Amino acid sequence: MKRIVILISGRGSNMEAIVRACAEQAWPARVVAVIANTARAAGLGFANGHGITTAVVDHKVHASRQAFDDALAAEIDSHAPDLVVLAGFMRILGADFVRRYEGRLLNIHPSLLPAFPGLHTHRRALEAGCHVSGATVHFVTAELDHGPIVMQSVVPVQADDTEDSLAARVLATEHRIYPCAVHWFVNGRLRVENGRVRQLDGESQLLQ
Ligand code: GRF
Repeated sequence: MKRIVILISGRGSNMEAIVRACAEQAWPARVVAVIANTARAAGLGFANGHGITTAVVDHKVHASRQAFDDALAAEIDSHAPDLVVLAGFMRILGADFVRRYEGRLLNIHPSLLPAFPGLHTHRRALEAGCHVSGATVHFVTAELDHGPIVMQSVVPVQADDTEDSLAARVLATEHRIYPCAVHWFVNGRLRVENGRVRQLDGESQLLQ
């Protein structure tokens, strides 16, 4: 039984999608903890309501990034995870932290990486006149929103799209690709070779 720890900062809808898929599809895995960097993260309510252990490691009470990273790692390690899932976790993590969880740390970003890392992805995609956008699940490396790509989704950008309408269309696909990627991981179906991720059964790593 693989142990999954999920880190959130807000709404937690991706966390929710993973928790639901894990239960409904009877994965050989369990979400053992949901950790937030703020007590205001709404997703904590869902996790508590589903009997999942929750914790808050508040970045504001730590004097430095390193102190926060260390406290977060201590909390994570107390749950002995096989996989750590960043799901809308809005803190930048240091190189030491990333190295500690190398190969077992996943993130989702609402753009077709390597395009538009960082914030305001949908606004930037609209401003750039993109005709497609999407989301990317990737293994985390020390570089922000960068690392071996596990799965991507593609959605059309429509002429009358606003940031919100595009975000909603992309988010609906996030809720499909993130559980899929985590499922592959817990079943040992992913291999990273030369910075690229191979799905060992040849399943499509693209949702379109
Ligand atoms: C998602 O769009 C995710 O890609 C981004 O932040 C958002 C988090 O949403 N990193 P939620 O908290 O999972 O609902």
